[in-house]
Amino acid sequence: MARRRQIYEGKAKILYEGPEPGTLIQYFKDDATAFNAQKRGTISGKGVLNNRISEHIFLALQTIGVPTHFIRRVNMREQLIRQVEIVPIEVVIRNVAAGSLTKRLGIEEGTQLPRTIIEYYYKDDALGDPMISEEHIACFGWASQEEMNDIADMAIRVNDFLSGMFAAIGIRLVDFKLEFGRVWDGDYARIILADEISPDGCRLWDVKSNEKLDKDRFRQDLGGVEEAYQEVARRLGLLPADDETSVLDFDQHRKKRGK
Ligand code: TMP
Repeated sequence: MARRRQIYEGKAKILYEGPEPGTLIQYFKDDATAFNAQKRGTISGKGVLNNRISEHIFLALQTIGVPTHFIRRVNMREQLIRQVEIVPIEVVIRNVAAGSLTKRLGIEEGTQLPRTIIEYYYKDDALGDPMISEEHIACFGWASQEEMNDIADMAIRVNDFLSGMFAAIGIRLVDFKLEFGRVWDGDYARIILADEISPDGCRLWDVKSNEKLDKDRFRQDLGGVEEAYQEVARRLGLLPADDETSVLDFDQHRKKRGK
């Protein structure tokens, strides 16, 4: 088989040329980085889990009409996606104080925020992804006002939907990061959700114990990193459950009823 052309290698993923024009293959690595790649490591099996988790979430978002780059999962570590022009902005949505918000503003970790906060960061590793405001985005033309309206609307919809989805499986969606891309239709560009949604770019806490089920286990050397990612996948019904009250049982009941 001919070697595929690599388009881009990031910290956690590789993009290859896709089978058709306008498509790419997104490959999920086990590599993990934190603090702008000052800390590096691997999380065994992470790529496989993030591929499944992100597939599950993007498909769920598509059912409520959020446009995404996801086409289909190809194998354990790869998915077929639409090629987009990435908007160079990381969009962070926060429901509970954690991470850089606690450090920057001295707010205690775990404080429920009275309203959801959306923050923007300029995607530039050399600059350490600095926080920016909509003024910078408009001034430097990183996205138009219309695009920013679409991005903020989608970020809030994604947050509302995912907060409910995770709450249903005993997980608090503390904060997360989204990336968006443009797809061109003639002269007209449309914004769609891109990148991935996985425990790499979300803070996910167990509702009862507040146990961290995300990349903070790696960032803070808490141990049990692989197990945390597995637990998220298991609760989403993507891995067989340990106990008997699983999605698989639910399917068996349905089969018995002949539906
Ligand atoms: P922060 O508290 O470090 O600013 O992170 C907020 C959220 O964004 C958290 O869920 C992790 C995610 N995130 C990324 O996905 N990539 C990044 O480079 C950073 C800094 C945060």
